Order: sequence, then structure tokens, then C-alpha cells
Amino acid sequence: MTDFVHTEINNQILTVRINRLERKNALTHAMYTALDDAIEQADADANIRCILFTGSDECFTAGNDLSEFASGLPGDFKETPVGRFLLLLANATKPVVVSVNGPAVGIGTTMLLHCDMVFAGTNSRFQMPFANLGLCPEGGSSLLLPSWIGRVRAAELLMLGGTFSADDAYRLGLINRVCDPAETEAAALEACQKLASQPPAAIRATKKLLSGPTHEELTATMLTEGALFSERLKSPEAAEAFRAFMQKRKPDFSSFE
Ligand code: COA
Repeated sequence: MTDFVHTEINNQILTVRINRLERKNALTHAMYTALDDAIEQADADANIRCILFTGSDECFTAGNDLSEFASGLPGDFKETPVGRFLLLLANATKPVVVSVNGPAVGIGTTMLLHCDMVFAGTNSRFQMPFANLGLCPEGGSSLLLPSWIGRVRAAELLMLGGTFSADDAYRLGLINRVCDPAETEAAALEACQKLASQPPAAIRATKKLLSGPTHEELTATMLTEGALFSERLKSPEAAEAFRAFMQKRKPDFSSFE
């Protein structure tokens, strides 16, 4: 149970709101479990035709909670709350729309690769700082990004882990529209309403076709990434990165081979 994820169903749209602003909406195991439950609920409930993921006008999510990450991930990646979340999202049968404002870090960016439409405020800051944290790409990003935006751009985003803007994300084809932050959620909700009024079986078929022949390869990649990610979480490089984050200093990787 967590108070940091709120769900509500209105007009056949399941809105899932991440709400832990004092920690920039960083996602804990309990929050992932709530997100997992929401996706499963949407899949099972014929009355839900669309899922909307959102945060606030200032923040989507700072990604995984780094203090929890520091103690590693227990067991098989696909059974962990984060692993389950990524796999459930990649296999969701109902369309998923996202409203992003402010930081969308780590999984806050990679989860978008599995969603159907993304609306982002001009204040959005996307980032995949996995390598910077001594980790490796997750969420199928090592497969999807090179094929969608090109190898060298994917390498830049995943190896240097810098932030990029909503305009950049739009140019890269990662989002549908750049919005005034006060209007992002309304724009996303409007897309949800249109999706909810479409013939549902046709939408499900279209969604399935869009994930197409790459789907098996994607699942395999996500599992490979997940296993390596779990291993990297235990690495001295990651330990130094997490310590540095907690101590609000730059990490020092100069002594690592
Ligand atoms: N895990 C745990 N706590 C986090 C967090 C995370 N991923 N992201 C932010 N927080 C905490 C901060 O430690 C800070 O706590 P404090 O008030 O006790 O000092 C609080 O949330 C506010 O964050 P702050 O860094 O002051 O906000 P900001 O607006 O200056 O920067 C971010 C926002 C998202 C750019 C920055 O917090 C950040 O880079 N976070 C880490 C993102 C990350 O590496 N995620 C993991 C990817 S795998």
C-alpha cells in the first residue's frame, strides 16, 4: 500500500497520478507495485479503455528511488516491482497516454518508449543517467532507442546521460506534442478521451500491431538488461554514485578500472 500513487476512473479512463513531490516523485518498490496493480486492473476491466500516467505541473518522476536502489534488487529482475512494471507496461493491452512536466529521469524517460502517446510541458527535462550511476540501460532502451533515433544519438543519451528538453524529445520523435506546462495534462486527457471513444477492439489490435515483430526481441532484451542492471546495482561504481548523490557531491570514478 502507498499513498504516493493515486488512481481514479472517469469516463473509461484510468488516471494514475504519481504524487511524492517532496522526493521529486522518485519511485519506491511500493509505488511500482501500485503502478503494476493499475496496469493489471486496466487490462482486466472492460470498462477501462485507456490509461493516463501523470505527475504534477512541476514534476513527472525522478526515476527510481536511489536510497532503495542502494540496497539492490532482490531476486529475479522480472519478479521485482520495477521489472514487473516494465514488462506489464510493454505488454499492456489498453492504450497508454502520458503527461510529462519537469523531470522525467531514468525510468521516467524509458517508460515512455512503451507508451502510445506522450505530451510534455516546455519545463520537461528528460534524462537517462544510467551509466552516470554505474548502471546500464533498462526498459528496452538499448534496443529501441538506436532503432528509433539512430545509434549515435542513442549512445550520446545513454553514455553521457545528459538532460534533453521537450523540444529535443519532439525532434527525436519521442513525444507527440510540446505544451504549456499548465495545459499538458489537459492535452493528454483530451487524447485519452478520443482513444476511449474509438472502437476498443480496433484500438487493441492496432496497439498489438504497433509493437509488432520486435516484441519478442524486446522482451528478451529487457530481461538481459534487467539481469545486468541488477548486477551493476551491486558494483563499486554504483555504490560510489549513490553515495555521491546522498552526499550531494560529484561522484569520483577515477580509481575504477
Ligand atoms: N531518489 C531518492 N531521492 C530523490 C531522488 C531519487 N531518484 N530524486 C530526488 N530525490 C530527493 C533529493 O535527494 C532531495 O531530497 P532532500 O530534500 O532530502 O535533499 C529531494 O528529492 C528534492 O530533490 P532535489 O535534487 O533537491 O531537486 P532538484 O529540483 O534540484 O532536482 C532532479 C531534481 C530530479 C533533477 C534531481 O533530484 C535528480 O537528479 N535526482 C536523481 C535522479 C536519478 O538519478 N534517478 C535515478 C535514475 S536510474
